[in-house]
Amino acid sequence: MKESIVKTMVLVARLCGLFALGSGTLSWAGYTVPLYIHIAAGGLLVIAVWGLAFQARLLATGLALFAVVVGAGIPVVGLVQLRLQLGEFQLALQWLHLAAGLGGIGLAEILAKRIRLSVQTL
Ligand code: HEM
Repeated sequence: MKESIVKTMVLVARLCGLFALGSGTLSWAGYTVPLYIHIAAGGLLVIAVWGLAFQARLLATGLALFAVVVGAGIPVVGLVQLRLQLGEFQLALQWLHLAAGLGGIGLAEILAKRIRLSVQTL
């Protein structure tokens, strides 16, 4: 049961993370991509990361907490750069948003591996 939930969450994180990465990169390159599609995919990635962090909270508490913070940082940085015009910091925020997004995808994989290993050793 736990394994199938974890598998689903990793799949959601992979697909939605890649979709958010692709749509964000396209819009950065100047193509018109509806922002709500990007935000919906990114939001699902964040929910999957938080779900995995919840499942791993007793196995890897520090890592799970870190994943919660990174997950929260993805939309916060994305929306801040949309709302505020920060001049020279704009580019830095764009890179930070991308790094947090990639970090979220990576953390989903790491958390899932930790959970799978613990299930195998039971
Ligand atoms: C809930 C999650 C997310 C929200 C709310 C969000 C929000 C945004 C917004 C508002 C923009 C446009 C900023 C602008 O036009 O100035 C943007 C751009 C972008 N996003 Fe996201 N995003 C999310 C998740 C992700 C994820 C998971 C990735 C990568 C894996 C990602 C990668 C990008 C990239 C590459 C851009 C273009 C460069 C930039 O403006 O930073 N985003 N995002």
